[in-house]
Amino acid sequence: MNSLALGRCNAVIGLQWGDEGKGKYVDLLASEHDAVVRFNGGANAGHSVVVGGERFSLHLIPSGILTKGRLAVIGNGVVVDPDTLIGEVDGLAARGVDVSGLVVSDRAHVVMPYHKSEDSLREELLKSQRQVAEEGGLVEIGTTRRGIGPAYADKVHRTTAVRACDLLRPAQLRERLELVCWAKSATLSPLGEPDQPPSARFDPSELAARAAGWGARLGPMIQDTAYLLHGLLADGKRVLFEGANGTLLDVDHGTYPFVTSSSTGVGGIASGSGVPPSALNSVVGVMKSYSTRVGGGPMPTELHDDRAQYIRERGREYGTTTGRPRRVGWLDLVGVRYACMINGVSTLAVTLLDVLAGMDGLEVCTHYEFEGGRTDRFIPDAADLARARPVYERLPGFSADITGVRRLADLPREARRYLDFVQEAVGVRAGLVSVGPGREQTIVV
Ligand code: IMP
Repeated sequence: MNSLALGRCNAVIGLQWGDEGKGKYVDLLASEHDAVVRFNGGANAGHSVVVGGERFSLHLIPSGILTKGRLAVIGNGVVVDPDTLIGEVDGLAARGVDVSGLVVSDRAHVVMPYHKSEDSLREELLKSQRQVAEEGGLVEIGTTRRGIGPAYADKVHRTTAVRACDLLRPAQLRERLELVCWAKSATLSPLGEPDQPPSARFDPSELAARAAGWGARLGPMIQDTAYLLHGLLADGKRVLFEGANGTLLDVDHGTYPFVTSSSTGVGGIASGSGVPPSALNSVVGVMKSYSTRVGGGPMPTELHDDRAQYIRERGREYGTTTGRPRRVGWLDLVGVRYACMINGVSTLAVTLLDVLAGMDGLEVCTHYEFEGGRTDRFIPDAADLARARPVYERLPGFSADITGVRRLADLPREARRYLDFVQEAVGVRAGLVSVGPGREQTIVV
């Protein structure tokens, strides 16, 4: 796909709060690569891909799995929930997808059942403090409750972590789980459910038995993926990195603390795969034609009226992972521009332009009003961003159904104007525009 100026090593990264439609572009580009690699996040991500009219929802497995003969690599930066992974493998195999190209890093961390309990428990505890929070504190994040934060926390804590390679050493893991369960019980029991004996929640024997089952099932897929990827690149093969979540959810660069727990931008590629930044040739930044957000945290362009509902229904804006209705708003170009800067985006890939058809007029946020002045800078601090007010430019809407359009010139004038405005405001050209979920519903610019 020449319009994207791809090299041997490329990345697809989300420029908003996730759900930008990255899965579709990864799926499209997979055929031009030999391996598709996840480097961050876990089963919190949800990539919907439509192939031949069939919809596939993937959470952990790189969307590249849907293209025959490609390696689908889960890198060391991913946190892997084995039950979800095995369920996904079985689900795909049952639908006739060849899953033999799936590889899991031996250093990927394992999301254990207690991580999911801890995630929910923390969220419930924070929720119960909403009253206090309304006076200036923070409320719960609104996580996907997939155990992502606690699993990454254990990775950084070190002594209580479990990695994929540990699943291949069941006897040693059994011993470690004794220690882990003891530590978990000691630290978590005081937090909640005090009348329940800790052993009922964190039973090392039961966990060890489950882990042995995971090891037996996933063992053949587990290997050192850093060497694997370097070997591929040395052989002249092409590698595509598939970002999960979105840049504005990045643990360092997003709207902290309302973020996920991993590096969702290109910064996560090096640490999450072992491939150095210098290897990366091209970064495709995926952006929706409007904004959505799931969970808590500020969203300056959020809409609360029937326009939000119109977009939500047309764009099927309900979480792939949790089914939650997504918050919807106008396109926030301040955020997209910032995400392009953080990621060094080479080309934009715009999605869901068709969803905007039929709207009276289209507003795009170009600046914020903040502390008495106007700024074109994003504000990656949740408390400050919550005080920013969007400054909009109003553009004409378009009414025609564009889902059948395949050439830029055939788009309504107003839709082209919208795209031109976005590219100029962001300073990056669009190489792809999507007008529907199908592979073929794509305009190559
Ligand atoms: P966690 O990743 O489950 O800890 O959730 C942290 C925040 O990131 C919550 O606001 C989630 O709704 C959000 N989030 C995580 N993954 C995604 C995603 O793939 N799409 C949209 N939001 C996400």
